[in-house]
Amino acid sequence: MAQLLNQNDNRTARCAEFSAKDIGREVCVMGWAQRQRDLGSLIFIDLRDRSGILQLAFDENTDRAVFDTAFTVRSEFVLLAKGTIRARGEGAVNKNIPTGEIEVAVSELRILASAQTPPFAIEENSAVRPELRLTYRYLDLRRPDLQGNIIARSKISNIARNYYAENGFIDIETPDLIKPSPEGARDYLVPSRVHPGKFYALPQSPQLYKQLLMVAGFDRYFQIARCFRDEDLRADRQPEFTQIDVEMSFVKQDDVIAVTEGFLKKLWKEMLNIDIETPFLRMEYKEAMERFGSDKPDLRFGFELKNLSDIVANTEFKVFAGAIANGGSVRAINVKGGAAYSRKEIDALADFAKSYRAKGLAWTKMANGEVSSSFAKFLTPEENAAIAERMELSDGDLILVCADKDQVVFDTLGALRCHCAKKLGLLDPKDFKFMWVTDFPLFEYSEDDGRYYAKHHPFTMPNPEDIDKVDTDPGACRAIAYDIVLNGTELGGGSIRIHDAEIQSRMFKALGISDEDAQEKFGYLVEAFKYGVPPHGGMAFGLDRLVTLLLGLEDIRDVIAFPKVQNASELMSKAPGLPDAGALEELGLAVIAKEENE
Ligand code: AMO
Ligand code: AMP
Repeated sequence: MAQLLNQNDNRTARCAEFSAKDIGREVCVMGWAQRQRDLGSLIFIDLRDRSGILQLAFDENTDRAVFDTAFTVRSEFVLLAKGTIRARGEGAVNKNIPTGEIEVAVSELRILASAQTPPFAIEENSAVRPELRLTYRYLDLRRPDLQGNIIARSKISNIARNYYAENGFIDIETPDLIKPSPEGARDYLVPSRVHPGKFYALPQSPQLYKQLLMVAGFDRYFQIARCFRDEDLRADRQPEFTQIDVEMSFVKQDDVIAVTEGFLKKLWKEMLNIDIETPFLRMEYKEAMERFGSDKPDLRFGFELKNLSDIVANTEFKVFAGAIANGGSVRAINVKGGAAYSRKEIDALADFAKSYRAKGLAWTKMANGEVSSSFAKFLTPEENAAIAERMELSDGDLILVCADKDQVVFDTLGALRCHCAKKLGLLDPKDFKFMWVTDFPLFEYSEDDGRYYAKHHPFTMPNPEDIDKVDTDPGACRAIAYDIVLNGTELGGGSIRIHDAEIQSRMFKALGISDEDAQEKFGYLVEAFKYGVPPHGGMAFGLDRLVTLLLGLEDIRDVIAFPKVQNASELMSKAPGLPDAGALEELGLAVIAKEENE
């Protein structure tokens, strides 16, 4: 039977907030039984709450009824204990926990709630199937490491709120039921009962609202905003996630960058006591792609891409010559230490490359002074020597070569670079390498649809030098857009916005959005732009990613209290679910039977 608390049951402090200074103190503590050890004439219970563990002791001096109650306690029972803090006996001191020198000599023990045996032990780093953990997420969240992550996340949000408030940002909530928009990821739709057949969308980000807040004159806006995107999940992606969302008026790119760096500096100092160097390195998108094969380079290690196209321009080797003839290139990375890989491991790298659409992976390695290669026999000695020189081939190295269209080469070698670094144990999660990637292309061409999409979003300002090309050569336009990158992850991104109705309308046209469509979807923005828009720009951090990286973790699910799994369901509540009978009818909806996406 669960028990209520009485008027004089007042918790003195949390379990791990006591220390040797409290010896002799009368206390009342409450928490969960981590474990009970019955040594016959002695019983010990480890009492746990979010602060840690405190030992409760029962011995021959303990009241018999209290001792008998302690005897019945099982793991995860919720307890109230009153007693006196005392020093542990000789040899019983536990140096591993902060309260290891003390224990409570218990005079009163009550079971506030009993508990079934949990499906897994509540322990740090316990190896349990993720599905089981997520099904019993409330038990999983009792584990100190996961609980620590969630508490750290709360601190990070508070530091963000304080920093931006101190810098004149106003926290403004924007709506969660908004108009569906055709750009970006797939929307989550919410049917309207009042307007049958019409739908709200959940916001993919507060983008347009924050721009309208600039039109409204708020000057500096800030929000910790929930965002919803119906896209495929990955380790760093959730269908609902959180942004630290920022917008500023009367600013240039440098101003947004300075405010953002100030925040990260303060955050790393307050959370980890680490002084990070600012300003961060800035690199243009084009250079990032050429050197790292990625628009989010990981700078913790080398293995930079080198272009070999000029060396093999006239080669007989069809694989290389063909790629160049098709307008592509031949590029390579030098994986230092990779010569130790077996043939099987190199074959696995080739399979990995194929998952990035590469047709193959050529390689050369030098182990104990001996060079072996999958392609040297197809090239002339001069070509081989020139490649060895450009790649600075030395003992222990593995050179990986990819020949294809540039995009495939970049994707493949960019991914291989990180994959090999991880395999070789070069990725220290506590080594924080921040950088800005700037000058992104304004548009991205989709082969599938044969049209251009906005690389960032359709409200991003073109680089003034490229503005004439918006209509004539969209692929060559650069944007005033920037991403903040940490250790190979895009932490956040932003841009200076278009604040000119004419440029905005040219942008819509280049994206194949007709005047009528623009009017229908974004008419309110177009209208607002007629009434005096300040130059403005901003950015948004992915809060989940920021917390994950700051804590040295890999999976954003470890910093989200109730995350979703790969197929976008939530295992504990089993969301999504069926609506009540009648609800669909009321909404004027009927469901066409379709197979579930697993
Ligand atoms: P963007 O789409 O780049 O920009 O998003 C900003 C940041 O949000 C994070 N993020 C995600 N995190 C977890 N799960 C997801 N599915 C997910 N999608 C994005 C990333 C990303 O860098 N409105 C613009 C910002 C602006 O221009 O001000 C925007 O949303 O860390
Ligand atoms: P082959 O002539 O097909 O035996 O290929 C010789 C070597 O080139 C093998 O190591 C292949 O994996 C590699 N290779 C094939 N296609 C490509 C490509 N597009 N880029 C790089 N290497 C390739």
